[in-house]
Amino acid sequence: MAIRPIVRDGDPVLRIRAKEVDPKDLGGTEFAQLIEDMLETMYVAKGVGIAAPQIGVSLRVFIAESPDGPIALVNPVFSRPSKKTLKDQEGCLSVPGHFDTVSRYKGLAVEALTAEGKPVRFSVDGFFARILQHEMDHLDGMLFIDRVKEQKARKV
Ligand code: NI
Repeated sequence: MAIRPIVRDGDPVLRIRAKEVDPKDLGGTEFAQLIEDMLETMYVAKGVGIAAPQIGVSLRVFIAESPDGPIALVNPVFSRPSKKTLKDQEGCLSVPGHFDTVSRYKGLAVEALTAEGKPVRFSVDGFFARILQHEMDHLDGMLFIDRVKEQKARKV
């Protein structure tokens, strides 16, 4: 395992849409290593989530701390967002020392692959749903500070 340097706001890798992971790569040692490194980097930085672009790898995979421990999701897709949204404070390992209020869907459904290539599908709610939405934004080239700006402009 290795701790990777965390990419910070200002690096273009954080502002581009990450590429889909080729399912053929799942279950391989190289991909397993990436996941291990992301996990270790997240723990050392005391984060509750980390997306691959945050260590400079532009692929659609992130790790999020679930109520049952950390899970890795590959090529995630969201659906059925709740009508209800919740506002709460967020921070980001790539924007150190900055916290702001972000509005997120209270809940949604997730479809993804595990790091071993197994399809998973489940519904999430509350803080875990917030982490997943924050990490998904990273895969789409967006930081939470961009969300804040957008939501303030729309007065959400
Ligand atoms: Ni973040």
